[in-house]
Amino acid sequence: MSDVALAIRDLTVEAGPKGRSVTLVDGVSLSVPSGKILALVGESGSGKSMTALAAMGLLEPPVRIASGGASLAGKAVDPTDRRQMRGIRGRDMAMIFQDPMMTLNPVMRVDEQVCEAVTVHDPSVSKAEALRRAREALVTVGIPAPEERLNAYPHQLSGGMRQRIVIAIALINRPAVVLAAEPTTALDVTTQGQILHEVKRLCRDTGTAMVWITHDLAVVASLADTIAVMYAGRIVEQGPADDILARPLHPYTRGLLDSVPMIDTRSERLRSIPGMPPVAGSITAGCRFAPRCERAVEACRTAEPALAPAGNGARLVRCIRPLDDGGAA
Ligand SMILES: Nc1ncnc2c1ncn2[C@@H]1O[C@H](COP(=O)(O)OP(=O)(O)OP(=O)(O)O)[C@@H](O)[C@H]1O
Ligand SMILES: [Mg+2]
Repeated sequence: MSDVALAIRDLTVEAGPKGRSVTLVDGVSLSVPSGKILALVGESGSGKSMTALAAMGLLEPPVRIASGGASLAGKAVDPTDRRQMRGIRGRDMAMIFQDPMMTLNPVMRVDEQVCEAVTVHDPSVSKAEALRRAREALVTVGIPAPEERLNAYPHQLSGGMRQRIVIAIALINRPAVVLAAEPTTALDVTTQGQILHEVKRLCRDTGTAMVWITHDLAVVASLADTIAVMYAGRIVEQGPADDILARPLHPYTRGLLDSVPMIDTRSERLRSIPGMPPVAGSITAGCRFAPRCERAVEACRTAEPALAPAGNGARLVRCIRPLDDGGAA
């Protein structure tokens, strides 16, 4: 299956009063085929959540979509159309938040909540059938004996169990797309690894496409088919995950990879990127990463590079001095 489940085109998100607004997401385009996982990575504040919330139609004023559009399974959707988006959310498109309690109702039993996710979008489903699907959904996310969990209240479950249930709810209607914002960062590595494994298998089996937002490049390596790297509201590099992880072209991507502790490289290479990303609204001419980039030359500070094809064309990079060898030391 290689049909495009989600496409975001030229999305720009702004905040603040008209005329004095700041741009938080600037001309972002993404596409995810059915059954595939795109990792959206970048430092805090780069615009990852705003991109996802905009696509889901969940931005709250004063943040708004200034331009751009989206399509879901080939059909155009208007994320600013509240009515349309209410019908789409939970059925065709779902979101998993970092904190499972953003989704779960603390005073409702788990079975009621999972069943409600089914019946709210298809009231014709009987109670017994909804419960059967709820049980099945829990099993698919690695809860082998779901009966006990279904009868529990959220607070009676572990964090990992709660997050599995949220993932089950997100996937129960077999949506075309799921946007997931760091849902496993609060979990221990074993639980995280198991959940990532289940998620990957589920996407492949059901054809659901996923956008996985994360800072964690170890997660990206085990989960993603493609990667989009964001910096200061812009995509700076995009392409197949294996390729990017093995041979980053943008100095920022290299910097992100160098700041991940890897067992095989020990800590010698471990270093952080100097400086801080620019604050939204204080973006100047030139490449946004230039002030922090070791490779920057004068031309980098005068005009912002376009996101242009690189290598065999499957990759895009926004840099006039890309690392043609991936920056391998
Ligand atoms: N209500 C708001 N008004 C104005 N600016 C905002 C508002 N909410 C967030 N921002 C700004 O939007 C930018 C993008 O934020 P976003 O939450 O998308 O970043 P992120 O990449 O998801 O970061 P993190 O990894 O920390 O979750 C940041 O510069 C943030 O300060
Ligand atoms: Mg975020």
